[in-house]
Amino acid sequence: MTCCKQQDESSSAAEEYWNTAAWHSGGVVCWEGIMLLVRAFLPARSLAAAGLWCRQKHTLPDLPYDYGALEPTINAEIMQLHHSKHHQTYVNNLNVAEEKLAEAKEKGDVSTIISLAPALKFNGGGHINHSIFWQNLSPDGGEPEGELLAAINRDFGSVENMKNQLSAQTVAVQGSGWGWLGYNKQKGTLQSCYVSKPGSS
Ligand SMILES: [Fe+2]
Repeated sequence: MTCCKQQDESSSAAEEYWNTAAWHSGGVVCWEGIMLLVRAFLPARSLAAAGLWCRQKHTLPDLPYDYGALEPTINAEIMQLHHSKHHQTYVNNLNVAEEKLAEAKEKGDVSTIISLAPALKFNGGGHINHSIFWQNLSPDGGEPEGELLAAINRDFGSVENMKNQLSAQTVAVQGSGWGWLGYNKQKGTLQSCYVSKPGSS
């Protein structure tokens, strides 16, 4: 769940993660169109054994601006650390967890597959959350306007109320919680939500 223009990025990041998480490592370059067709008819294990199944590694997305672009609010050093170290660590650990998952699947090692769930969730969640986060920052700042502003006023009463509600939810979370303003498609309303840790929801 994300706000405004970032919905596409977030869904594609989530889709990429879950698609990739389900893939096996075959050690060959795959041709996506053929693979989709082949995947529909053959079990993953057979494909992996035949070397026809591949898994893409996750990579750290480039920032759409310079590290110093958000100064003086956030300095370049913090941005560099957060992006090149913090986010990179989630990406690395997600790749490691997925490699272990692929190996465990190969061996039919169910207990290892189950034990990897927290690492996949934590690091996959951290990767997706950060990827959305970078896209939502702007050196220009500004306030919500147009349709977004109207929806915030309708669903929260005011921008101030929305900020207060989101802050209250996230500040109460132990550790590094994340809060999001998202659009609930079923209800057709904006909604705030939070997660206690990057991969916990
Ligand atoms: Fe972070």
